[in-house]
Amino acid sequence: MNEIKFYSGEQIPLELHKARVVQKIHLVPIERRLEALEEAGFNTFRLTTKDVFLDMLTDSGTNAMSDQQLAAMMQADDAYAGSQSFFRLKQAVEDVLGKKYYLPAHQGRAAENIISHAYVKKGSLVPMNYHFTTSLAHITQYGGKIVELLYDEAYVIDSTHPFKGNMNIEKLEEVIHINGAKNIPYIRMEASTNLIGGQPFSIQNLRDVRAIADKYDIRVVLDASLLGENAYLIIQREEEFKESTMGEVIKLMTSLADIVYFSARKLSSSRGGGICTNCTDVYKELSPLIPLFEGFLTYGGISVREIESMAVGLYETLDETMISQSPSFIAYLVNALDANGVPMVKPPGVLGAHVDAMEICKHIPQKEYPAAALTAALFLVSGIRGMERGTMSNQRDEYGNETYADMELVRLAVPRRVFTLSQIKYVVDRMTWLYENRELVGGLRFVDEPPVLRFFMGGMEPVSDWPQKLLEKFREDFGDSL
Ligand SMILES: Cc1ncc(COP(=O)(O)O)c(C=O)c1O
Repeated sequence: MNEIKFYSGEQIPLELHKARVVQKIHLVPIERRLEALEEAGFNTFRLTTKDVFLDMLTDSGTNAMSDQQLAAMMQADDAYAGSQSFFRLKQAVEDVLGKKYYLPAHQGRAAENIISHAYVKKGSLVPMNYHFTTSLAHITQYGGKIVELLYDEAYVIDSTHPFKGNMNIEKLEEVIHINGAKNIPYIRMEASTNLIGGQPFSIQNLRDVRAIADKYDIRVVLDASLLGENAYLIIQREEEFKESTMGEVIKLMTSLADIVYFSARKLSSSRGGGICTNCTDVYKELSPLIPLFEGFLTYGGISVREIESMAVGLYETLDETMISQSPSFIAYLVNALDANGVPMVKPPGVLGAHVDAMEICKHIPQKEYPAAALTAALFLVSGIRGMERGTMSNQRDEYGNETYADMELVRLAVPRRVFTLSQIKYVVDRMTWLYENRELVGGLRFVDEPPVLRFFMGGMEPVSDWPQKLLEKFREDFGDSL
């Protein structure tokens, strides 16, 4: 346990690291922020960091790296084939994730591409607890479909359920009966289910999934991009594991899956990814695809320097004081906003705090992308860059119809060891002000809609002059403050 009690009784997370290298960031005036939004098509992905104050877009590739990771980069062995850096990483994968075969891929979605290419075909159905944007896109790209099998409480925004990422076991068996095990190439479990608020699953649930997979001879694929934080919340919330170490919980989780893949941009605070397994058949099926899509088998499109930092980063995920930092800051942020009446996804999860735009922007129909609108509005009033996780992040169905998201969320990512508590207090302040002025936020419409993963580069415009009105109210309340 890492809890540090204050004499005053105040409950705040305490940083167990110190800043040794820092980066200057800029808070530009609101008038410039409006221009920047217009230039970016009201899509926060298209902003440039010179206009962004607190970058809460994602934790992908933005976690602070440790001194040990940076030092390790200096010993990188530059070789196309047989680099020692690769073997150090392979060893780390075996030590931390318990898998003897490791296939490098340049990031998480590249691993998804390899797995989908090998196992998904027209008519395949992949049951999962919940989709992630890129995992869905790759499965559909190869002609497959997905089915999401969460329990009902996962969709209850204001819930106390500790494991909203659990897979609905009864429905899983029903889906297998209806569709036939032969059409199900694998069951996908995503650790800390990203799109529903960074919510974990329990080990008991994973054991139940494993039992069904064994019964019908179906593989289990674990998306381990956010494994460390899921394991941390298991120690916090699952009685059986409250005395366990991070290493024990992580190894138990990976031992219940046949294939484990990850984005190292998240898992090990570096840039890369990969697939690991103990199944020789899987290794033989997937390994020829690495040189085809990624690069030679001992680098897979990843720089050797990053490979070194991945190895160290993987060992560091076993450090509970490091892993607990982001979830404890998120819990602080969620609880403070909740106390101010702002509707938030609960209980606090991992990777970020999630604001309920469906509730806040009840006056904006889903066809006008309330979460995207609230994300843009928050940037306008604060310089805080969040990410839309709602209908704009969904893809249209096969007939081109809009598919409305189950939840309309603004995700405020809290990458590991990046922000200070006063910055988090600024987020609470500006988000609360925006909540109190929510009626001023209006909808958005697409002016340029890409056919796949449209949320990345799509261009939008406001349906009225609401951004200008919001700016005027900001000036009225904050005077000449930035
Ligand atoms: C759960 C999950 N899976 C897969 C990915 C894709 O990883 P990458 O961005 O490295 O391609 C992400 C990235 O955010 C993720 O959160």
